[in-house]
Amino acid sequence: MNGPAIEIRDLRVSIGEKEILKGINLTIPEGTISALMGPSGSGKTTLLRVVNRLIDLIDGVKVSGIVKVFGKSIMDMDVYEVRRMSGMVFQIPNPFPHMSIYDNVAIGARVNGVAKSKRELDELVKWALERAMLWDEVKSRLRDPPWRLSGGQQQRLCLARALALKPKLLLLDEPTANIDPVNTLKIEEALRNLRKEEGMTIFMVTHMPQQAIRLADYTVMIYDGRVVEEGPTEEIAISPRHELTRKFLRGEV
Ligand SMILES: Nc1ncnc2c1ncn2[C@@H]1O[C@H](COP(=O)(O)OP(=O)(O)OP(=O)(O)O)[C@@H](O)[C@H]1O
Ligand SMILES: [Mg+2]
Repeated sequence: MNGPAIEIRDLRVSIGEKEILKGINLTIPEGTISALMGPSGSGKTTLLRVVNRLIDLIDGVKVSGIVKVFGKSIMDMDVYEVRRMSGMVFQIPNPFPHMSIYDNVAIGARVNGVAKSKRELDELVKWALERAMLWDEVKSRLRDPPWRLSGGQQQRLCLARALALKPKLLLLDEPTANIDPVNTLKIEEALRNLRKEEGMTIFMVTHMPQQAIRLADYTVMIYDGRVVEEGPTEEIAISPRHELTRKFLRGEV
């Protein structure tokens, strides 16, 4: 059993007067894929935003509790270090429109000085695009702007951009919600390979139970800012203990 990649104890988040996360306790083991599911508005995106500290950007936010990533309390860390440890992919593909496909992937490594030479950078860009299962489709057009790519390709480009910093943890917020089935399966295969071959820990929001079943070792169900159930995906999907999980799986909440 590996150590935890993410440990959350009594996490509370309020924005203005409204309490959004109401005492979250959660452990995500290293080297696993975990799915975060729950109805719209239950706090899934907010939880991911805490883990990479994008929550800091929201006005009037209050955060309390303990959040550790690979054993370090992220509240005490430099925010850039936190974001280097955890790559993030959002629901809507958001490549930088004014940069080429190549530069979209290379930018983080350039800024952080990860690659020392042009050759190292080329290799890193190729590795990230291969890992995102996009290399073969773009290798002859790396200087093209990203908006010439399909939506699904743009999402894989965003995955490659996140991977180029070699994060140990990958956070994804419904990465395939706006993507066709073929691209969805490619992204899922990329995630499975990243876990298996790179030992990456993956924590993803999905609203599709079938996706959790295909991909995730563990599933966490949240409802109204609280974890209602967590465990191995088969247990949650086949014999959920909680009525809210059963309702969610039947599409009723
Ligand atoms: N910046 C904000 N200011 C005020 N309220 C917010 C803000 N961001 C989120 N909320 C509120 O927090 C609650 C949880 O939102 P969140 O986006 O985390 O839900 P979610 O589970 O990701 O939902 P969805 O499945 O629709 O993406 C919602 O009631 C939302 O309106
Ligand atoms: Mg959301």
